[in-house]
Amino acid sequence: MMLILYVFLLTGFISVNGHDQQNSELELVAIFDHQVTGVSVHPASGRIFVNFPRWTEDSPVSVAEVLTYNTSKPFPPNSRWNSWRNTRKNELDPSKYFICVQSVVVFKDSLYVLDPAAPATSFIVKGGAKLVEIDLITNEVKRVILFNEEIAPQGSYLNDIRFSPDGKYAYITDSGATGAIVLVDLNKETTKRVLHGHPITQADPDITIEYNGKPVRQPDGRSIEMSADGIALSVDGCTLYWQAVQGKTLYSISTSFLHSIDSDREIPSQFAIIGENGPADGLWISQKEPNLLYVTSIQDNSIKIRNLLTNTYEIKLMDKRLRWPDTFSEDKHGYIYVTTSHIPESAMFNKSAPAQLRTELWKFKSNTISHH
Ligand SMILES: *[C@@H]1O[C@H](CO)[C@@H](O)[C@H](O)[C@H]1NC(C)=O
Ligand SMILES: *[C@@H]1O[C@H](CO)[C@@H](O)[C@H](O)[C@H]1NC(C)=O
Repeated sequence: MMLILYVFLLTGFISVNGHDQQNSELELVAIFDHQVTGVSVHPASGRIFVNFPRWTEDSPVSVAEVLTYNTSKPFPPNSRWNSWRNTRKNELDPSKYFICVQSVVVFKDSLYVLDPAAPATSFIVKGGAKLVEIDLITNEVKRVILFNEEIAPQGSYLNDIRFSPDGKYAYITDSGATGAIVLVDLNKETTKRVLHGHPITQADPDITIEYNGKPVRQPDGRSIEMSADGIALSVDGCTLYWQAVQGKTLYSISTSFLHSIDSDREIPSQFAIIGENGPADGLWISQKEPNLLYVTSIQDNSIKIRNLLTNTYEIKLMDKRLRWPDTFSEDKHGYIYVTTSHIPESAMFNKSAPAQLRTELWKFKSNTISHH
């Protein structure tokens, strides 16, 4: 009993001080001259892909492959996909260009690019919301699944995506004005929007996200309003987890139940409240540790781990360089990758900041938490 109490106090002590510290477990993988959000590693080859949403900058690249510490190249290579510019909006076919990419996720030998098509997280470019599959063997776009206005209505912002282990389905969070989950049947190429406006997918108005101890606000006073964002699927594909950025509660629901409801109007009761993570962005369940959920804790520059069996929640690492840890991925050697998107420092929230933002990609070794 004494020992447990001691370990608890010690952990608390480290976490307070750790706020300003550098943690040797955290390794810098790459730096970018643009605001990065998503990252995904192709486990078989170790290739790393990232994306840069078109938020404060009319970014010259939306999707890139990381080559070295300071070199990334547009992906797919030699294609039109990265040549969208906001000024060319009226000349270009929105289904054929990356407009504002929020996530890239590898599944098997494909890279899936999720494009909510809402530059500056504002209005959707009509006909631009889509999921683009790129074959990683040929580096060619294989197919484009477009989302109509029922699936991605004006005000929506499709945010992150996970794939069922059998490859039949994809699950997407909508962090926009009205939160929701979008289901994609990858074989039939049909889509369904569920939990639209349901409290469990909405931003929590009682939460104000703070950074460096101060509320994060746009110059006009608006705070960060992001609904269902971080998403994770259990390794068996049966349970979907998510939470709002402007929120604290981690929810889950069985995927078979999601498939069984057929309209927005059905009010589901079969969800679970797993616990409180506090405001968080990315979620990740490691293939190697199916009971551990990694969480990016955005207010205190840390990565936390929720043990889904014991439902305990603890700090994995805290480091002042984790400036808004955003999205996770994992390679086959057991390294977990995380981007830092510096959201509170961007021109969206700091009108003195430049449109272009320097951001980073990090990695750390996954393992069970050593002290517990
Ligand atoms: C990239 O990094 C290498 C190694 O640190 C360095 O020698 C080189 O000058 C860097 N290039 C740029 C463009 O920053
Ligand atoms: C806002 O950005 C400017 C320019 O980069 C920087 O000097 C300043 O410290 C930033 N303010 C805050 C509160 O981060």
